[in-house]
Amino acid sequence: MTAIRSVVLGCGSYLPQQILTNAQLADRIDTSDEWIVQRTGIRQRHIAAEGEFTSHLAINAAQAALANAGVDAQSIDLIVLATSTPDNTFPATAVAVQNGLGINHGAAFDLQAVCSGFVFALATADNFLRSGSFKRALVIGAETFSRILDWNDRGTCVLFGDGAGAIVLEAQEQPGKSSDRGVLTTHLRSDGRHKSKLYVDGGPSSTQTVGHLRMEGREVFKHAVGMITDVIVDAFSATGVTAEDVDWFIPHQANKRIIDASAHKLHIAPPKVVLTVDLHGNTSAASIPLAISVAVADGRVKKGDLVLLEAMGGGFTWGSALLRW
Ligand code: UT7
Repeated sequence: MTAIRSVVLGCGSYLPQQILTNAQLADRIDTSDEWIVQRTGIRQRHIAAEGEFTSHLAINAAQAALANAGVDAQSIDLIVLATSTPDNTFPATAVAVQNGLGINHGAAFDLQAVCSGFVFALATADNFLRSGSFKRALVIGAETFSRILDWNDRGTCVLFGDGAGAIVLEAQEQPGKSSDRGVLTTHLRSDGRHKSKLYVDGGPSSTQTVGHLRMEGREVFKHAVGMITDVIVDAFSATGVTAEDVDWFIPHQANKRIIDASAHKLHIAPPKVVLTVDLHGNTSAASIPLAISVAVADGRVKKGDLVLLEAMGGGFTWGSALLRW
């Protein structure tokens, strides 16, 4: 018996040149490097330049992923771009990326699940590939959160950064065993009762403005570890995989304390946890593919490794994915 699996062919990322350190933030608002590092683990974040849009970051990340995969842009027939900071209200930023890559066939669309966006986009692309609708996909997370921050709100502006990451996924016929490469399982959840705990106070239909990010940080924190661990337990149950089998845990990078507590609760050993929150801050949908790219580039994640992804964010939305690299 064979099955279609979505196999990762390559990954890439892009960070804007400008770095904003905690010390620079402390010069502007009432905060300190010590507070930010102790509460979040963040030391710096990248900020997009004037005129540099989400689509520009995404195109750079996509080109890096295509080069890493060794495939031509023309072989891509699906682009799923996770973002909450699109260039425009419409059309989708994904079509700007498609056009920027010189592709004019197949389908390209945006997906909005805030910080869980990359896991939702991966699950969506995986289902399209396994159903036979498409053959080769770019799954991208790209954000310019610096554009929706209230730079006078110290409770939120110190947390976020800009960036983009991408992977190339291909539908491959396989025996479909857990030892075979590809996406093994994905699990997505949402609960709109929490929608006012992390939101943007603007939008085309409500205010006709873009708005600013608002968050009840402590409330998000309170729910995060439980939601993350629940959806990872779902991935373990669906596959028979245990925490010990996992080679690399690549979580959404929001807060080091949330990541540490989740890994501890799941009995995932600290050396298996990929951490980039110190250098990137929280880049929302881009954080997981950015972290993947770092861990692949430095030689940690290798072909055949079992990689566990998870994210939680506004909505609330949360999800997990288990894949054999
Ligand atoms: O991607 C998913 C979305 N986001 C998250 O996962 C974020 C989840 N939440 C968090 O990570 C944490 O709640 C924060 C890092 C946002 C805040 O940490 P906390 O330990 O929950 O702090 P807090 O909000 O309870 O605030 C503690 C104190 C307050 O002062 P008082 O009232 O105790 O005097 C805040 O005003 O820290 C103060 N504070 C700051 N102080 C210095 C808040 N922000 C800052 C700041 N610098 N930047």
